[in-house]
Amino acid sequence: MKQSLLKMSDLSKSDIDDILNLAVQLKYETKNGIAHPYLAGKTLGMIFQKSSTRTRVSFEVGMYQLGGHALFLSSRDLQIGRGEPVEDTARVLGRYVDAIMIRTYSQKEVEDLAKYSGVPVINGLTDYEHPCQVLADLMTIREYKGTLEGLKLCYIGDGNNMANSLIVGGLTVGMSVAVACPKNHLPHPDALAFAENYPGKLLVTQDVKEAAKDADVLYTDVWASMGMEAEVEQRMQDFKGYQINAEIEALAKPDVIVLHCLPAHREEEITADVFERHAGEIFDQAENRMHVQKAVLVNLMG
Ligand code: CP
Ligand code: NVA
Repeated sequence: MKQSLLKMSDLSKSDIDDILNLAVQLKYETKNGIAHPYLAGKTLGMIFQKSSTRTRVSFEVGMYQLGGHALFLSSRDLQIGRGEPVEDTARVLGRYVDAIMIRTYSQKEVEDLAKYSGVPVINGLTDYEHPCQVLADLMTIREYKGTLEGLKLCYIGDGNNMANSLIVGGLTVGMSVAVACPKNHLPHPDALAFAENYPGKLLVTQDVKEAAKDADVLYTDVWASMGMEAEVEQRMQDFKGYQINAEIEALAKPDVIVLHCLPAHREEEITADVFERHAGEIFDQAENRMHVQKAVLVNLMG
């Protein structure tokens, strides 16, 4: 595995297998009260330029369970929020902490942090990708289906950070991926270019029904991501129909699982009935954030 986790394409199929296998072990140890202080004495700095419930809590509790310590660093309080350059913040933090997790807007900022800090950096969500989420998603799919290879993953909604990382992660582990999104909200060109290495395995369509047909996994995310608040009204128009509802669910395989990275907006990207019918899977998915991130932390800091 590389020194940092900046995007899904940093990971090979065998890196992902290793992370998921360790995550399963750590989940078992956590649930059975078996201590696993693999990061005793280590500190993770966590920079947040956007809100978070799952990412913040799962990293902080995960570091504690590994015997280490996590520092919550809100950009509202850091000098970075007052214009201190990321190169300087990086060179300072790299002298105090053993690794940095960052949630921000620009992917370049995360890449720069890795370049200048000299310590492992983990992308905790940018406008471009959300790799920690996709690792938890793959872990959850493997738990429910027993395998990843050969499954059909259908993503319905915005061609955003989730779509980009699901395309790359899904294809890497041998799934086929179908994305239904409006023409003016396509996934990032880099994610589409990545798919050229997997001929015939990615479908991008405006036809929600075609994408959902015979899917093993249905996945959606909010229509307006963090930072897009000014576009909400326009997006409510653009994404009408790009919804997981009972009709779409019925087109998928009978044993389909439905996933959502959360937070969810009921009756927008997913109906309340489908959400509640699949709440078991969705909250296992949220829980798995912690187990899989602990595996990433052990790999990068252990
Ligand atoms: N899914 C996810 O990253 O949740 P938070 O925004 O609450 O961290
Ligand atoms: N696409 C969403 C994901 C939240 C976890 C966002 O960026 O806000």
